[in-house]
Amino acid sequence: MALEVRVCEPGGFGDAAADALLEAASGVRAPVVGLATGNTPLALYDALARRVQQGEAAVSAWRPFAIDEYGGARGHPCSNRSYFARHWDSIPGARPVLQFEPQAADPAAEAARFRAALAAAGGLDVVLLGIGRNGHFAFNEPGSARDSVTRLADLAPETRAAASACWGELTPRSGYTLGLGEILAARRVVLLADGHAKAAIVARALAGPIGPECPASFLREHPAAVVVLDVAAAAGLRSGSAQAGGIAVPGDFPPADGGGHP
Ligand code: GLP
Repeated sequence: MALEVRVCEPGGFGDAAADALLEAASGVRAPVVGLATGNTPLALYDALARRVQQGEAAVSAWRPFAIDEYGGARGHPCSNRSYFARHWDSIPGARPVLQFEPQAADPAAEAARFRAALAAAGGLDVVLLGIGRNGHFAFNEPGSARDSVTRLADLAPETRAAASACWGELTPRSGYTLGLGEILAARRVVLLADGHAKAAIVARALAGPIGPECPASFLREHPAAVVVLDVAAAAGLRSGSAQAGGIAVPGDFPPADGGGHP
């Protein structure tokens, strides 16, 4: 099975995610690693920082690329640039993340610059992804083509609603994103999801129809993808739907809370 699903207890999520990412990057001398932001990977970045501090892991050879950036003010506290300054740059030895310039005068030229930089690095060896509640990867919203490339994309209403918790009335309408084509060309993919709020979309991505209406569903066509879930995010995969999707899910995690969450 090309797609491996790992399920852990919530307290083990950061370490399980770090294990998956370090495994994915191992064996490549200077891996090009696409990095996600958002709430989901926070525990991963903490676990990575701890392991590096303790001498158990190293990321100093990694060549990190942002996978997306909001189209708001450069350096706004809610921007991905600020997020990486807080959660990536604090990891000992971590190289600066190659990032989008959200206020570039010519968005097409900015997307082309970023795309060329990634291509010059040899493309992604590894990509770390979260998932939006509508099934997006980075800012590849539903409807994005399987072969889409780096671009400035419009944000879906549900993505803007989630972002407004931080951005408030300054919530951007667009964001730069690697395309699905570039993300799915990564040699290895690590997708993270935690919490009940992601259970429905995780089930849809892993067991529903594969297609652009749920961009994350394309992961099932990838040759080397690992999905790390906590028990809450895995709750929708227990009903046999996972079998329908052809995905092997570990069966030794506790039953759902029975509360009928979507
Ligand atoms: C944003 C980002 C994605 C991220 C997603 C989920 O829309 N563009 O890269 O994966 O949100 O965020 P969270 O982890 O906070 O749920």
